[in-house]
Amino acid sequence: MMEQSFVMMKPDVAQRRLLGKILTRFEEKGLQLVAMKLLQIDESLAKEHYGEHAEKPFFNDLVSYITSSPSLAMVIKGDDAISLIRKIVGATNPKEADLGTIRGDFAMDMGRNVIHASDAPESAKREIALFFDDDEICDYQMVDDSWIY
Ligand code: TYD
Ligand code: MG
Repeated sequence: MMEQSFVMMKPDVAQRRLLGKILTRFEEKGLQLVAMKLLQIDESLAKEHYGEHAEKPFFNDLVSYITSSPSLAMVIKGDDAISLIRKIVGATNPKEADLGTIRGDFAMDMGRNVIHASDAPESAKREIALFFDDDEICDYQMVDDSWIY
């Protein structure tokens, strides 16, 4: 099923100049970028995005990290994109993430795990709406999307 997922490269990715390298992984797999913006996330947006974790002990550190420097927010589209992207991203704890996943290859710390990706269709919908207006999403057709991914 065609899906859109919200994906965000966290502040250390721009700081480490890895934005292009990580984006390439999604493109090479056959997923399609339909929206993108580099933005400095403020405290209220960070708290809303991570609202489900408000009571967790790591919440304040997470908000500080995510607001520390610009993040790259994206909408990525593809067949079963939500679960597929979670697989490409890897486990939350980068030390447990398989090598070959983004977190497994580019991160060491749970608190600096380089990338966010929606975990389910409902969260994808909520997160996309939080970061993008409808007219910022370019839901274009590929010239031949019958088999070229
Ligand atoms: P979570 O939604 O559980 O993970 P994921 O990003 O894989 O969906 O947690 C959100 C972020 O919070 C996670 O990417 C990193 C941070 N975090 C911690 O710093 N410590 C923790 O113990 C957990 C579970 C998450
Ligand atoms: Mg999550």
